[in-house]
Amino acid sequence: MPNDHRHYDETDAGPEWGTPKWVWQPLAETLGGFDLDPASGAEEEPIAYVRVQLPTDEHPYGTAVREEGVTTWYGDGLEEGWHGDVWLNPPYGRQHNPRWAQKVSEEVERGALDTLTALVPASTSTNWFQDHYANADLLTFIDQRISFDGSGSDSASFASVIATFGDVPTAYVDALGELGFVVSTDVSAVRATAPREPSTVTPEPNRGGVR
Ligand SMILES: C[S@@+](CC[C@H](N)C(=O)[O-])C[C@H]1O[C@@H](n2cnc3c(N)ncnc32)[C@H](O)[C@@H]1O
Repeated sequence: MPNDHRHYDETDAGPEWGTPKWVWQPLAETLGGFDLDPASGAEEEPIAYVRVQLPTDEHPYGTAVREEGVTTWYGDGLEEGWHGDVWLNPPYGRQHNPRWAQKVSEEVERGALDTLTALVPASTSTNWFQDHYANADLLTFIDQRISFDGSGSDSASFASVIATFGDVPTAYVDALGELGFVVSTDVSAVRATAPREPSTVTPEPNRGGVR
């Protein structure tokens, strides 16, 4: 029975599911830490040096709290400009996915990012995925269903993809490889690393037919 807290569309994830540390930390280490987490609050420990959280009564819109080297900005990650190495695990659900995906494209095009690492449902048939994530530089198909922090279940009922935009160090790609199958959408890079072998098939003799 659906309730207000969960969204049973495209995925059954709720907006307050945190990323387990084994997913984000190995990637963060290769980048010297993530600079920004624009959709934060559900994580068990801060994932980035700066994080954007929805305002509360205690922390109204526009306040910032600095604690143990982490700045929490109470605002709207969809309205802020993003910078540096960004970690994103946006709220999931039909009402959230298209808007956050659109924001990803806007920020990638704006050019203030170094890299963007987005963990999203592998909803590869949706417009939001096709239009905004399928063109990432790297797509990593996670080899297991993630048990998100706070989900209260063993593992999600959907598969996950990490979409990476920007130039990343080799160690980052190695870390991705530990999470699942990594696909580069850069055809020239694929050609450079996997030159086509000359064919060993002997051509059939021309039997005189019209070709
Ligand atoms: C799926 S959780 C991910 C949390 C964390 N980034 C992580 O990876 O574990 C999404 C978080 O974004 C927050 N959120 C939702 N809308 C937001 C907005 N417009 N701006 C900032 N945070 C938002 C939610 O409250 C929730 O804590």
